Amino acid sequence: MYRYLAIMLLLTLPGIAIADDHQDPQMSRGEMLYRNHCIECHNQQIHWRDGRIAADLNGLKKEVERWQDAIGVKWTEEEVNEVSRYLNSTYYFY
Ligand code: HEC
Repeated sequence: MYRYLAIMLLLTLPGIAIADDHQDPQMSRGEMLYRNHCIECHNQQIHWRDGRIAADLNGLKKEVERWQDAIGVKWTEEEVNEVSRYLNSTYYFY
Protein backbone atom coordinates (compact mmCIF):
# COMPACT_ATOMS: atom_id res chain seq x y z
CA MET A 1 0.00 0.00 0.00
CA TYR A 2 2.68 2.51 1.00
CA ARG A 3 4.76 1.38 -1.88
CA TYR A 4 1.88 2.08 -4.22
CA LEU A 5 1.46 5.57 -2.76
CA ALA A 6 5.15 6.31 -3.10
CA ILE A 7 5.10 5.28 -6.75
CA MET A 8 2.02 7.38 -7.45
CA LEU A 9 3.74 10.36 -5.83
CA LEU A 10 6.84 9.90 -7.97
CA LEU A 11 4.71 9.71 -11.08
CA THR A 12 2.70 12.84 -10.35
CA LEU A 13 5.51 15.14 -9.16
CA PRO A 14 7.09 15.78 -12.57
CA GLY A 15 3.61 16.46 -13.93
CA ILE A 16 3.11 19.18 -11.36
CA ALA A 17 6.51 20.68 -12.16
CA ILE A 18 5.64 20.78 -15.86
CA ALA A 19 2.21 22.29 -15.25
CA ASP A 20 3.89 24.98 -13.16
CA ASP A 21 6.12 25.99 -16.06
CA HIS A 22 3.14 27.08 -18.12
CA GLN A 23 4.20 29.02 -21.13
CA ASP A 24 2.74 32.37 -21.99
CA PRO A 25 3.66 33.33 -25.57
CA GLN A 26 4.03 36.99 -24.50
CA MET A 27 6.69 36.10 -21.97
CA SER A 28 10.34 35.38 -22.62
CA ARG A 29 11.63 32.11 -21.25
CA GLY A 30 13.81 34.02 -18.80
CA GLU A 31 10.82 35.94 -17.47
CA MET A 32 8.78 32.78 -17.18
CA LEU A 33 11.51 30.99 -15.23
CA TYR A 34 11.96 33.95 -12.93
CA ARG A 35 8.24 34.31 -12.30
CA ASN A 36 7.81 30.64 -11.59
CA HIS A 37 10.75 30.17 -9.27
CA CYS A 38 12.10 33.42 -7.92
CA ILE A 39 9.47 36.08 -7.55
CA GLU A 40 7.88 34.86 -4.34
CA CYS A 41 10.69 36.31 -2.22
CA HIS A 42 11.51 39.37 -4.29
CA ASN A 43 9.62 42.35 -5.33
CA GLN A 44 11.17 44.79 -7.77
CA GLN A 45 12.83 46.67 -4.94
CA ILE A 46 15.42 43.99 -4.45
CA HIS A 47 16.73 44.75 -7.92
CA TRP A 48 16.36 48.53 -7.72
CA ARG A 49 17.86 49.15 -4.33
CA ASP A 50 20.99 51.17 -3.77
CA GLY A 51 24.07 49.10 -3.11
CA ARG A 52 22.78 46.21 -5.15
CA ILE A 53 24.93 43.15 -5.09
CA ALA A 54 24.99 42.78 -8.86
CA ALA A 55 27.37 45.52 -10.03
CA ASP A 56 27.65 44.46 -13.65
CA LEU A 57 26.34 41.84 -16.04
CA ASN A 58 28.79 39.23 -14.79
CA GLY A 59 27.83 39.89 -11.19
CA LEU A 60 24.18 39.59 -12.13
CA LYS A 61 24.80 36.21 -13.74
CA LYS A 62 26.66 35.09 -10.64
CA GLU A 63 23.71 36.07 -8.46
CA VAL A 64 21.26 34.24 -10.70
CA GLU A 65 23.57 31.22 -10.67
CA ARG A 66 23.82 31.40 -6.87
CA TRP A 67 20.08 31.70 -6.38
CA GLN A 68 19.05 28.94 -8.72
CA ASP A 69 21.52 26.74 -6.88
CA ALA A 70 20.12 27.86 -3.50
CA ILE A 71 16.58 26.83 -4.40
CA GLY A 72 17.75 23.71 -6.26
CA VAL A 73 16.10 24.20 -9.65
CA LYS A 74 19.23 23.09 -11.54
CA TRP A 75 19.03 25.52 -14.42
CA THR A 76 21.30 25.05 -17.40
CA GLU A 77 23.80 27.75 -18.31
CA GLU A 78 21.43 28.82 -21.06
CA GLU A 79 18.58 29.22 -18.58
CA VAL A 80 20.79 31.22 -16.22
CA ASN A 81 21.66 33.45 -19.18
CA GLU A 82 18.01 33.87 -20.17
CA VAL A 83 16.99 34.91 -16.66
CA SER A 84 19.98 37.26 -16.38
CA ARG A 85 19.01 38.81 -19.71
CA TYR A 86 15.44 39.26 -18.54
CA LEU A 87 16.50 40.87 -15.24
CA ASN A 88 19.01 43.07 -17.01
CA SER A 89 16.54 44.33 -19.60
CA THR A 90 13.92 44.92 -16.90
CA TYR A 91 15.89 46.37 -13.97
CA TYR A 92 19.65 46.64 -14.36
CA PHE A 93 20.49 47.87 -17.88
CA TYR A 94 24.19 47.01 -17.79
C1 HEC B 1 14.00 32.40 -0.30
C2 HEC B 1 13.77 33.70 -0.90
C3 HEC B 1 14.42 33.96 -2.25
C4 HEC B 1 14.28 33.22 -3.40
C5 HEC B 1 13.42 31.98 -3.63
C6 HEC B 1 15.10 33.86 -4.38
N1 HEC B 1 15.72 34.97 -3.86
FE1 HEC B 1 17.00 36.22 -4.84
N2 HEC B 1 17.30 37.27 -3.14
C7 HEC B 1 16.68 37.05 -1.93
C8 HEC B 1 17.21 37.97 -0.94
C9 HEC B 1 16.77 38.05 0.52
C10 HEC B 1 18.18 38.77 -1.61
C11 HEC B 1 19.05 39.89 -1.03
C12 HEC B 1 20.07 39.43 -0.05
C13 HEC B 1 21.10 38.52 -0.63
O1 HEC B 1 21.51 38.65 -1.79
O2 HEC B 1 21.57 37.63 0.12
C14 HEC B 1 18.20 38.30 -2.99
C15 HEC B 1 19.02 38.84 -3.97
C16 HEC B 1 19.02 38.48 -5.30
C17 HEC B 1 19.79 39.11 -6.34
C18 HEC B 1 20.76 40.29 -6.17
C19 HEC B 1 20.00 41.58 -6.12
C20 HEC B 1 20.97 42.76 -6.14
O3 HEC B 1 21.34 43.21 -5.07
O4 HEC B 1 21.36 43.18 -7.24
C21 HEC B 1 19.52 38.47 -7.50
C22 HEC B 1 20.06 38.77 -8.91
C23 HEC B 1 18.60 37.40 -7.20
N3 HEC B 1 18.31 37.44 -5.84
C24 HEC B 1 18.11 36.50 -8.11
C25 HEC B 1 17.27 35.44 -7.79
C26 HEC B 1 16.85 34.44 -8.73
C27 HEC B 1 17.25 34.40 -10.20
C28 HEC B 1 16.05 33.57 -8.05
C29 HEC B 1 15.37 32.31 -8.60
C30 HEC B 1 16.26 31.28 -9.07
C31 HEC B 1 15.97 34.02 -6.67
N4 HEC B 1 16.74 35.15 -6.56
C32 HEC B 1 15.22 33.41 -5.68
C33 HEC B 1 15.71 36.09 -1.67
C34 HEC B 1 15.32 35.07 -2.56
